[in-house]
Amino acid sequence: MFSFQLLSALSSVALLVSAAPARRACDTSGAVMDLPSGQTQLVAPTTAPLYVALGVGVQNYTCNASTLKYTSTGAVASLFDISCIDTTPAFATIQTTAFNVWSAAPAGAPATSIGSSIGLPPVLGSHFFVTSPTGTGISPEWSFTNGQFVIGSKVGDITAPTDSATNVDWLALNNLQGTLASKIFRIDTVNGQPPSSCVAGSADISVKYTAKYFLY
Ligand SMILES: *[C@@H]1O[C@H](CO)[C@@H](O)[C@H](O)[C@H]1NC(C)=O
Ligand SMILES: *[C@@H]1O[C@H](CO)[C@@H](O)[C@H](O)[C@H]1NC(C)=O
Repeated sequence: MFSFQLLSALSSVALLVSAAPARRACDTSGAVMDLPSGQTQLVAPTTAPLYVALGVGVQNYTCNASTLKYTSTGAVASLFDISCIDTTPAFATIQTTAFNVWSAAPAGAPATSIGSSIGLPPVLGSHFFVTSPTGTGISPEWSFTNGQFVIGSKVGDITAPTDSATNVDWLALNNLQGTLASKIFRIDTVNGQPPSSCVAGSADISVKYTAKYFLY
């Protein structure tokens, strides 16, 4: 009886704590990146991640009128905390579960609504692009609701191990600015690639995607 009450009290505290994002209190050592062998672009750190976030959003593209290919103009995504998820919903396949719901969502439905529909905790923050601190182009930023952020600079890039014409590349990024993390990885991508060619003058497009972001 005593231990039951203690457990109830502890889980109430855990619920309160999880409402305000901070360094994850759970053991994240079980959240391991499954990286393809035979490549050196993405090398997993030996430490456990600080956070693992599920990104649900869009990759944006514009049509380059001379190459008639879509080029990336950034992305915007909601981030859900999946650091402590083990089996329910399954960590290994959460990006596909989320993408199926996101892909079927009506136009205009916010990505923030996807988490609760598959039993994820509230939004941890967002991912978007900003003018690069280097002064050239744009850079990806991950910004948490607790005020912490990191702006990254790409240091590694491999095509998605499965269906790379559909699923965006897996990436490794180093910290360019901010205190949230020193390294960021984008893996387990679902969708997000543009059509293989475009017609000059066609409108900019946004392609839905999901991915896991590992922050170290
Ligand atoms: C289109 O692609 C060409 C070749 O890669 C590049 O030189 C040019 O800057 C691009 N145009 C725009 C508007 O990005
Ligand atoms: C991407 O497109 C969406 C609309 O689909 C827009 O809300 C967002 O600001 C765009 N972000 C970037 C970086 O282009």
